[in-house]
Amino acid sequence: MKPLSTRATTIRPSPTLSLNAQLAARGAAGEEVLNLSVGEPDFPMPELARDYALKAIAEGRNRYTDVGGVPELRERIKRKLAEDNGLEYAPGDIVVANGAKHALFNAFLALCEDGDEVVVPAPYWVTYPEQVRVTGAEPVIVPTGAGLKLTADQLAAAVTPRTKAVVLSSPGNPTGATYSRSELEALAEVVVRHDLFVVEDLIYEYFHYDDGAVPSIASLGPELKDRTVVVNGVSKSCAMTGWRVGYTAAPPEIAQLIRRLQGQATSNVSVVAQYAAIGAMDDVPWEAIKSYRDRRDLAHQRLTAIEGVRCGLPTGAFYLFPDISTLLGNRTTDEFCSELLAEQGVGLVPGSGFGAPEHVRLSYAVAPSVLETALDRLATFVAG
Ligand SMILES: Cc1ncc(COP(=O)(O)O)c(C=O)c1O
Repeated sequence: MKPLSTRATTIRPSPTLSLNAQLAARGAAGEEVLNLSVGEPDFPMPELARDYALKAIAEGRNRYTDVGGVPELRERIKRKLAEDNGLEYAPGDIVVANGAKHALFNAFLALCEDGDEVVVPAPYWVTYPEQVRVTGAEPVIVPTGAGLKLTADQLAAAVTPRTKAVVLSSPGNPTGATYSRSELEALAEVVVRHDLFVVEDLIYEYFHYDDGAVPSIASLGPELKDRTVVVNGVSKSCAMTGWRVGYTAAPPEIAQLIRRLQGQATSNVSVVAQYAAIGAMDDVPWEAIKSYRDRRDLAHQRLTAIEGVRCGLPTGAFYLFPDISTLLGNRTTDEFCSELLAEQGVGLVPGSGFGAPEHVRLSYAVAPSVLETALDRLATFVAG
C-alpha cells in the first residue's frame, strides 16, 4: 500500500479530547470519576436557542443556506461585534463555521502556506499548533514565562522574515489570562511594524471576571482590523458546544477566501443550529456565567492551600493552570495525572499538551461540590 499523507499522520491527536473519552469510559464502566478536565460549561443552554431551533424545524428549514450563514444570524453577529467589541463588519465579512475550531482552521488555511511561520504563545490551546501544521506552515512556540501572556518584546524577538501571523487568545485556554488594552497596544505596534496577521480567539470572552469588556486587538484601529481575523462562537458562552456554531469576522479579502474554502469543504453549518445560535445570542445566560467567578475563587483558594502548588488568580475562562513542578519528584505531569486518576479518581489534564509540562489544567466548570471533593482528594494525593 502507498503511504498515507505525511501531513495528516504528523498531526497529533487532541490530548483533551482523548482524555475526556477515557474519563467518560471509566464513568460508563461504573467507576467514580471526578472530572476536572471538562472544557465546557455545565449550565443549560438558553431557552430561546431551543425555541428558535424548534421553530426552524417546524417551519421546514431543510435546505442549504448561504455558505457563510443565514442573513439573520450574520446580522445578529454583526450587531454583537459592534456592541461588545466596537467592531463594524459587513455581514459578508462574517462566515459562520462548525464551531470556533473550524473557524480557526478556516482562518489558518486562508492565511498560511508552506514555509510560513505562525507565532503561538505558550501555554497554548492544544489545537493551534496542529492546525497551523496542516496548512504547511510551522508553529513557532514562544514561551511566555510567569506572565502567561505574550509581550511585545517576546513577539518582536520571535519574528523572522517568514513570520506570517500570530495567534492571540483572550481569555486564554489553559491560562485564563486576559490581555489588557495596553498590552494589546504594545503587541499591535510590533504586528504592524512587521506586517503580520493576527488570529484572535475570543471564544471565552464572556467568562471575564475583571471590570470591563475583553478588548479585541482588531478594535485598536483600521490598521489592526485590516490584518486580524476575529474568531468567536456560542459554544462556551451559551453552553452549546454540541451545536457547533462559531464564526470568523475578517477583512473582505480574507473573508472571501474563507468562504471559498468552506464552500468546498463543508458548505453551511446545520441550518437548525444557525437559528439556535440567534436565539442563544438573544438570551445569553449572564447569571450562570457570572457564577463562575465564585467557583474560580473557591477552586483557587482550595488549590493554593495545597503546599507546593503555585497558581496566580486567572481573570477569565474557566480553568486554573497551576505550576506543580515541586510536587512531581521524578514523575512527569502525565504520570502525576495518571496516578491521581488511578488512586483518587480525579481527572486533570497534564500541561504537556499545552506546551507547559510542569503544569496541570483544572476546569472549574463543574458543580462546586464536585470541585471541593476533587480538590480534597488532590490534597490527600499530594500529602500521601
Ligand atoms: C481557546 C479555544 N478556542 C476554540 C475552542 C473551540 O470551540 P468550539 O467548540 O466552538 O469549536 C476551544 C474549545 O475548547 C478553546 O478552548
